[in-house]
Amino acid sequence: MAFTYFFRDRQTLELIRDIVVPKLRSRRFISIWDAGCAMGPEPYSVAITLRENMGAMCFRNVTIHATDIDGSNQFKQEIEAGLYHRERLHSVPREIMEHYFQTTDTDDWYLIADEIRKSVVFQKHDLLTLQPIRKNFSLVICKNVLLHFKESERVEVIRMFHSCLEDGGYFVTEHTQKMPEKLSHLFSPVTSNAQIYQKRAA
Ligand SMILES: C[S@@+](CC[C@H](N)C(=O)[O-])C[C@H]1O[C@@H](n2cnc3c(N)ncnc32)[C@H](O)[C@@H]1O
Repeated sequence: MAFTYFFRDRQTLELIRDIVVPKLRSRRFISIWDAGCAMGPEPYSVAITLRENMGAMCFRNVTIHATDIDGSNQFKQEIEAGLYHRERLHSVPREIMEHYFQTTDTDDWYLIADEIRKSVVFQKHDLLTLQPIRKNFSLVICKNVLLHFKESERVEVIRMFHSCLEDGGYFVTEHTQKMPEKLSHLFSPVTSNAQIYQKRAA
């Protein structure tokens, strides 16, 4: 079972809120790719962060594409159900819990709010095919996945992310993942507190 939980990396979510969201606000359509999303806590945490900061209408313009190789063949079903056990919710701030999750008849299982559930679309996808699922993303998030790849694969996967970001789009990865030297000319780091990079204009 993939290790993941809601609001796993709150600091990076807050930096996405403070640095990325203000830049996205003015766009008519915003596509986000969460690559290696496991059973959904990460893309749903991003969706809640956007909803909290962009208002009730935000999902008219925003789609979060969540993908995973999904060896279990269960992620689509789990993400579409939006039903999560308490053990994946321990880091959710109380007011977020009250607003976006409802209790169910089954002890310790919570249902995510409909507006959040509908904002995330899952598809199976293997990053090592090096084929992006579409073009013109404003934001690509790939956390705790690249560490499983060889250095040469990491370079090619990040190069693929670069190819499907719009100019000025953002790439986010985990704290311990550094941008490979070979690709540093393609991205500018936007903060020293997280691995958030902006695509450089060609
Ligand atoms: C530890 S989970 C990370 C989940 C989430 N991104 C997070 O940080 O909480 C790693 C995920 O990477 C996925 N993964 C591994 N290899 C992959 C590949 N080649 N293509 C797509 N996903 C892959 C696994 O199936 C797993 O769900």
